[in-house]
Amino acid sequence: MTQDEMKKAAGWAALEFVEDDAIVGVGTGSTVQHFIDALATKKNVIKGAVSSSEDSTKKLQAYGIEVFDLNSVDELSVYVDGADEIDPRNHMIKGGGAALTREKIIAAVAEQFVCIIDNTKEVDVLGTFPLPVEVIPMARSYVARELVKLGGDPVYREGVVTDNGNVILDVHNLSIVDPVKTEREINAIVGVVTNGLFAARGANHVIIGTPEGAKKR
Ligand code: A5P
Repeated sequence: MTQDEMKKAAGWAALEFVEDDAIVGVGTGSTVQHFIDALATKKNVIKGAVSSSEDSTKKLQAYGIEVFDLNSVDELSVYVDGADEIDPRNHMIKGGGAALTREKIIAAVAEQFVCIIDNTKEVDVLGTFPLPVEVIPMARSYVARELVKLGGDPVYREGVVTDNGNVILDVHNLSIVDPVKTEREINAIVGVVTNGLFAARGANHVIIGTPEGAKKR
């Protein structure tokens, strides 16, 4: 099975968390693209979706799924999204697709976070994947200096502007032994919008695409 076939297995398996009449939280990335294909088979029984990126919004709308503004939604039973790394306690690094801030907002609103991954994303300790940090453009150099003080090596993701008009620093070589603490420390730097650690709010369910099919943990 290819990596994309494993992503597809995970994306389609997440349909079991989608209830009739629900507004579904939809994340971003190549695994979520498969989930959207699956969700389209239920478009006549769900109310619609809220989306974490312009890319996902376009794909949802192309299928005729209504995309709601999060501010008009009182409750969200489930949010389905991928991850770049996930540890055994369901803490994640996200933001490889630069959509981390909207992803974190929707995750905060949702009752259940269902993380869909292929089996290459499982790690014992987070941090091999560089940690994305969304930054207000004028604060870029200041934030980079502060990240160096925390032991990281930030690299400006050139040419990338987030859906919120900000920039991304990818922080290499961070030793993330306490993800909740690192998430809090980086978010406390003035000029940081948010960082890609989803630790204070991790995943409730993980669906892993493997060569033997989708497995849940
Ligand atoms: C988007 O900003 C990310 O958080 C994605 O969820 C993450 O990069 C996983 O992407 P893939 O599903 O493409 O591997």
